[in-house]
Amino acid sequence: QSVARMETLIPTINRLQEVFLTVGAEVIQLPQIVVVGSQSSGKSSVLESLVGRDFLPRGSGIVTRRPLVLQLINVAPPQERLKIENGVKAEEWGTFLHCKNQIFADFQEIRREIEAETERSSGDNKGISPEPIYLKIFSPKVLNLTLVDLPGITKVPVGDQPEDIEAQVQEMILSFISNPNSLILAVSPANSDLATSDALKLAREVDPDGRRTLLVVSKLDLMDAGTDALEVLLGRVIPVRLGIIGVVNRSQHDINTQKSLEDSMKDEQAFLQRHYPSLASRAGSRYLAKTLSRLLMHHIRDCLPDLKARVTVLSSQYQARLNSYGQPVEDHSATLLQIVTKFASDYCNTIEGTARHIQTSELCGGARICY
Ligand code: GDP
Ligand code: NA
Ligand code: MG
Repeated sequence: QSVARMETLIPTINRLQEVFLTVGAEVIQLPQIVVVGSQSSGKSSVLESLVGRDFLPRGSGIVTRRPLVLQLINVAPPQERLKIENGVKAEEWGTFLHCKNQIFADFQEIRREIEAETERSSGDNKGISPEPIYLKIFSPKVLNLTLVDLPGITKVPVGDQPEDIEAQVQEMILSFISNPNSLILAVSPANSDLATSDALKLAREVDPDGRRTLLVVSKLDLMDAGTDALEVLLGRVIPVRLGIIGVVNRSQHDINTQKSLEDSMKDEQAFLQRHYPSLASRAGSRYLAKTLSRLLMHHIRDCLPDLKARVTVLSSQYQARLNSYGQPVEDHSATLLQIVTKFASDYCNTIEGTARHIQTSELCGGARICY
């Protein structure tokens, strides 16, 4: 079983995006997924499991000190695989905006470069900076999607941090999540009271109706003996419209001993079966990835009427032009448009079918997701 990348949606969304590009339509823009939460709640860990690769700096204390804007870019295998100078062919690789021409085929090096670049701008003594690091990851196994990792909410300044560190970090987070086209992954650890969740509090400031906030409850494995998160996960403590998903990420010990993401997900599933049998199929990193895919699908479904209208207009403009010529003409753009029109309409039908199917088995008690 492969790691939970949002694989099933990839071909659909990528082909749709091609169509949108070809008809020059900015009709669809996939939401940017932003993780928020208090320091060390597990934000970077959650993002990593969504991407399915080990490459983000993680750990106790303030590790993420600058926003990381991570753009995943789908490349078709295997023809377009990148040739690395020394003869090694990479199927997945990364590049950074701050060193455009350098290709990172080794994900450990990607992590080292994030750390080095963080130090370059924010020093080596826990300082923070609002200036994002831009990383692109090219892979045949990812969705064209942007994810944002952010520093955690923290209260007491340490090291070189300014007195108003809490306000600065909050401002940084708000600048990303106030974008209405962002989906907020609010990460709250299970071993602290949900009512005090900084993540939910910030999310509510910009998304009071909860239309674009999903709650991830991390560290299920670290709860006190005799307690569990069942009530929280069932939404009986604080309801969250798009859903509440419990996960178990790798512990610091797992990181130190280099436990693989695959093993971690296996153990996570076993943990859920043991402690939350009634919820095991609706929890875990894999289920989180599936839920995000579903939300993206809803988003696309809501964009379809616009797309269809756009294609129709373009198509009739083209017909009018053809008619004015009075005779058949060789026009490549015309042929292209015909292909696109047919493709888009076929595709819209397929997607609508899928979306309808998904809607009937919706997770949020039948409530329509307004995303
Ligand atoms: P961030 O600061 O919110 O980005 O959190 P990180 O992903 O860097 O994780 C902070 C620390 O918590 C690391 O030592 C992780 O190993 C640990 N951690 C994160 N999630 C979990 C979890 O679900 N269970 C356990 N046991 N540890 C976790
Ligand atoms: Na941390
Ligand atoms: Mg982090």
